[in-house]
Amino acid sequence: MDYVNFIEKIKMKTGIDLSLYKEQQMKRRLTSLYEKHGYKSFLDFYRGIEKDKDLLYAFLDRMTINVSEFYRNAKRWEVLEKKFLPPLLKNKRNLEIWSAACSTGEEPYTIAMILSKFLPLSEIKILATDIDENVLHKAKIGVYHERSLNEVPEEMKKRYFRKDIDYYIINDEIKRTVTFKKHNLLSDPFEQNFDLIVCRNVLIYFTEAAKDTLYYKFSHALKPGGIFFVGSTEQIFNPGKYNLEPADTFFYQKCK
Ligand SMILES: C[S@@+](CC[C@H](N)C(=O)[O-])C[C@H]1O[C@@H](n2cnc3c(N)ncnc32)[C@H](O)[C@@H]1O
Repeated sequence: MDYVNFIEKIKMKTGIDLSLYKEQQMKRRLTSLYEKHGYKSFLDFYRGIEKDKDLLYAFLDRMTINVSEFYRNAKRWEVLEKKFLPPLLKNKRNLEIWSAACSTGEEPYTIAMILSKFLPLSEIKILATDIDENVLHKAKIGVYHERSLNEVPEEMKKRYFRKDIDYYIINDEIKRTVTFKKHNLLSDPFEQNFDLIVCRNVLIYFTEAAKDTLYYKFSHALKPGGIFFVGSTEQIFNPGKYNLEPADTFFYQKCK
């Protein structure tokens, strides 16, 4: 009851609907946060959030799980490069691409690096969105710890990063290919006509009902023949229901 109330209040305050996230997981994350701050219940915690902006930010930070890395599950990115990009680029050069739930930018910048094997960077345009303004801010700055670059091919590392003691700074030309915007997948309208949508490692946090709605929306946002690239635990069990067909492991194609 306490949690249900909390969900309602948070929705009114921030527009974020926690009921669409898996309950046990979210409750655990938030309980450990409020206990750390000395609160005894969700109601108590909410009162704290109302008074203290920093606590609101701590809440937002805890509810969004921001871990990311460049070329995450590198073999899948190879499939994108070798199997899906060539036919997409055969029809047109200016692909419409969306990295949804992009966190700190590793994912859209990976797309830009891969596309740079086919096109000049000046012709590449990627939309990247996330619910969390804080990660978007970091993405725009483009400074990364070494550990998030583990999978970056050496040639890309040399070409597109500058090392500064412990950190790697991404090149401005790569940065210019990506437009970052705040967007809540669970409540904001989707842009349309994408050739490629990459949405990885966020759907796992959502309830089955929320995922169902999102698969329809993603499919609708793709052009016929467009590619939907999901995370490595995020298979769609009945893609046909959404007018998608399996195209490779963790890739789906919108039916033509
Ligand atoms: C684990 S990260 C995944 C980052 C990247 N896609 C990857 O696979 O490495 C999950 C991201 O989803 C974002 N997120 C969580 N709920 C969201 C929502 N409702 N709408 C948009 N983004 C959301 C979080 O802020 C976080 O940055």
